[in-house]
Amino acid sequence: MSYNVAIDGPAGAGKSTIARAVAKKLNYVYVDTGAMYRAMALYMIRENVNLDDDAAIAAKCESADIKIAYENGEQVVYLNGENVNAFLRTEEVGNAASKTSKVPRLREKLVELQQKMAEETNVLMDGRDIGTVVLPKAQTKIYLTASSAVRAKRRYDELVAKGEIADIDEIKKDIEERDYNDMHRDVSPLKQAEDAVLVDTSDMSIDEVIEKVISLCRANK
Ligand code: DC
Repeated sequence: MSYNVAIDGPAGAGKSTIARAVAKKLNYVYVDTGAMYRAMALYMIRENVNLDDDAAIAAKCESADIKIAYENGEQVVYLNGENVNAFLRTEEVGNAASKTSKVPRLREKLVELQQKMAEETNVLMDGRDIGTVVLPKAQTKIYLTASSAVRAKRRYDELVAKGEIADIDEIKKDIEERDYNDMHRDVSPLKQAEDAVLVDTSDMSIDEVIEKVISLCRANK
């Protein structure tokens, strides 16, 4: 049986940074499910689908083939055969993903892929519904969060470091809007699983969070 770790939490809580580091240390495969939802959103943008038209999104996702590969230790998302990693981490795609990910058929397709991956290998998977829906039997479940002000500041620093122009108030507004969408959708809303451990990273360094998550994983082995 494979050993599974589920990490959920809102946008910008540092899930992917933490999950990537912990997976490397414990030798698990890191599965970034947000990237899969982002790839679907990218497809909808490219195909000019109205992002508020759930039926159009549901119909269009049938022609999106998402595959995951690992190249040089990094997860690579293939959309209909094309490596789309370079296009996934923009604010535009993130905001679109928050809308398109509420469509049940689109989620069904991605959840199936995620469950298959977790059956085959020891995975550390991060997202919004991993502990509640995708891997309800995960041996370790963590809900990682931070205040929206702290998350906005982190995202702002990240963008500035990449040389992009950013407006911190705009980012905070986007984050809060995305939280609202993620927590209030009908299907698989973001929420802490009953058996998940809450880790609030607002006043913690990255190293402290990594240590904490590793100790929680080890405690359940
Ligand atoms: O973690 P992220 O910012 O890359 O996620 C992008 C969007 O995808 C986010 O707004 C919500 C959605 N998502 C989801 O609904 N379920 C997941 N398991 C992962 C992401």
